[in-house]
Amino acid sequence: MTVIFSGVQPSGDAPTLGNYLGAFKQFAAFQAENDCIYCVVDQHAITVKQDPKLLKERVRRLAAIYLAVGIDPDKSILFIQSEVPAHAQAAWMLQCIVSVGELERMTQYKDKSDGKARVNAALLTYPPLMVADILLYNTNVVPVGDDQKQHIELTRDLAERFNKQYKNVLTVPEISTPKQGARIMSLQEPTRKMSKSDENKKATIFLTDTPAQITKKIKSAMTDSSGIISYDKENKPGVANLLTIYAAITGEKIADIVAKYDGKGYGAFKTDLAEIVVNELAPVQERYEQLLNSSELDDILDAGAAKANKIASKTLAKMEKAMGLGRR
Ligand code: TYM
Repeated sequence: MTVIFSGVQPSGDAPTLGNYLGAFKQFAAFQAENDCIYCVVDQHAITVKQDPKLLKERVRRLAAIYLAVGIDPDKSILFIQSEVPAHAQAAWMLQCIVSVGELERMTQYKDKSDGKARVNAALLTYPPLMVADILLYNTNVVPVGDDQKQHIELTRDLAERFNKQYKNVLTVPEISTPKQGARIMSLQEPTRKMSKSDENKKATIFLTDTPAQITKKIKSAMTDSSGIISYDKENKPGVANLLTIYAAITGEKIADIVAKYDGKGYGAFKTDLAEIVVNELAPVQERYEQLLNSSELDDILDAGAAKANKIASKTLAKMEKAMGLGRR
């Protein structure tokens, strides 16, 4: 069986349509024929200061979102990162084989530290923790959006380096990005990634937005003055982004969508797209509300942590033995 592993940060009030199309939609699809392990990466979230009470709430909400998008706890393992201590332990060992230069070259580090007078050390050492997340489960495939590519390349490099420097105990994983939706852009500045933390709330669709909010955001999405629906990422990034969202949800080819709206204006296209997004998210939102208020969620997370601990501690023991730590 192929092992699939991925994680999402419990930062922001709710995941975005970008998270959904880049990551969550793939997660559920992988379950049929693979061993899937999915994680709420709360230790990654604290690289920037969080309100403790709010973080706890967001961890729960994100776990409920995982289930609402179709993660089935009978098929997949769903757990919270901080409930499996091996992640932080393995991350330390991986920090011992990565260079500061490699970490400083990570674009996410550059973006997040840019112009800041003070930066937490963990913002720099974030990637080895992500590498640990993946390697502890002998992962073969990591489904993520485009923005995680560099981190997965580092994961491969560090797995190979560890195997060469110590002992061949780590599996080198592959990345999987969706054909459509690997990089959903901001609705207001379509040359930037759609992000949970965008200050302009009109730029981002959250999975918990009401139908009215979703429709309003799509209708006021930035396009251009030509009024012609065509896919041109360079010159018409706003329309290209909306076409991508349409294609990622419906599975239709971009060329077919463009042909369907030939001669129609942006208004009609946006009205249809809003309906498509609302209908896609409606069942997710319904399940999400039910799960949040049930005790089922804690039972699932307890069972997930137990299963994850079992697998992760085995790999950790192999890594420690290979490196010469402890007495075993
Ligand atoms: P995070 O929490 O920022 O995002 C979760 C997932 O959503 C994808 N994504 C997007 N996809 C398309 N368009 C967008 N605008 C968009 N924004 C986000 C991300 O690529 C990601 O797949 N470092 C990771 C979390 C992580 C992880 C891991 C992932 C920690 N450990 C191990 C995989 C394996 C992150 O910050 O993702």
